[in-house]
Amino acid sequence: MSLLNTLIVKVTQMLPKSMVRVFAGKYIAGEELQDAINLVKQLNSKGIFATLDVLGESIQNKEEAIEAKKKCIEVIEAIETNKLMANLSIKPTQMGLAIDEEFAFQQILEIVQKAKSFNNFVRIDMEDSPFTDPTIRVYKKVNEKIGHVGVVLQAYLKRTLSDIEQLNKLGTNYRICKGIYVEPESIAYKKRQAIRDNFLKALRLMLENRNYVGIATHDDYLIGNSYKMIKEMNIPKDKFEFQMLLGVKEELRDRINSDGYKVRIYVPFGEDWFAYSIRRLKENPQIAGYVFKNIFSFGK
Ligand code: FDA
Repeated sequence: MSLLNTLIVKVTQMLPKSMVRVFAGKYIAGEELQDAINLVKQLNSKGIFATLDVLGESIQNKEEAIEAKKKCIEVIEAIETNKLMANLSIKPTQMGLAIDEEFAFQQILEIVQKAKSFNNFVRIDMEDSPFTDPTIRVYKKVNEKIGHVGVVLQAYLKRTLSDIEQLNKLGTNYRICKGIYVEPESIAYKKRQAIRDNFLKALRLMLENRNYVGIATHDDYLIGNSYKMIKEMNIPKDKFEFQMLLGVKEELRDRINSDGYKVRIYVPFGEDWFAYSIRRLKENPQIAGYVFKNIFSFGK
């Protein structure tokens, strides 16, 4: 962690909530479901899709996990009622994966069943490495039972290519991303180019099998090479989409959209935005640099 980033993380934690809200606002739709619905409508009017994420801090007990599940079901219903071009992303630990795997499976199953009833879709986000295996197990079980679900793989993990070999057999709907957590060198690539190389190898393996892929990155290098790969492999447009985070590189987002490719924006919302923002800063101090840039570009 650079000295500057360390400093920014420390200072941010001491700032009043209202001030943190100024920069966090760029990355978060708001506190209420209605805020997220309004934002998604704006994106949809430009032909851009969304995936909604109900923010939540690490779940301590089953009651909290059940509450989180109810909110997710409300989101699925709101997507249907408002006819939004959107699906839902969920964090498995928010559904109780760290407490009890079978319980989390049942919770996720319930959410996906609701999504299926509206012909919608749920993406299971991938968290840090202690949860990789349990998340894949839960994904497989839900997928086998009812479908309408997809999983995320992280290019920084050395295991990812062999996970794809297994998951390709199930016709998996993937999101591929670099990975946001801090992982040990024994299991994860650390160098920027090594992560990019593995991202592209992973993408090729997924596309070769004609699996659906959400290509989640803001990295021009990866987007340029994904374009090339898609053309060279003659991949139909209904087999992939580009995915980006709310508030990040909007010009690039619009360019991909106007190139005629499907773009989906990850839209987090909820009361826990403050804890979420601070946690993201601590997890990945690189984000502190972006925050710093945002504070000083505020009002431009
Ligand atoms: P990189 O970090 O190199 O960013 C490229 C450029 O984009 C930067 O130079 C900067 O300009 C800009 N940028 C990137 N992130 C920014 C930010 N937060 N704020 C401002 N500017 C930023 N991870 C994970 O472990 N599990 C998951 O389930 C997901 N899910 C997910 C969904 C979607 C839709 C996206 C886009 C990303 C994720 N991620 C994730 C996060 C992912 O693993 C990764 O940490 C970030 O996307 C940043 O990596 P890039 O590929 O964008 O490259």
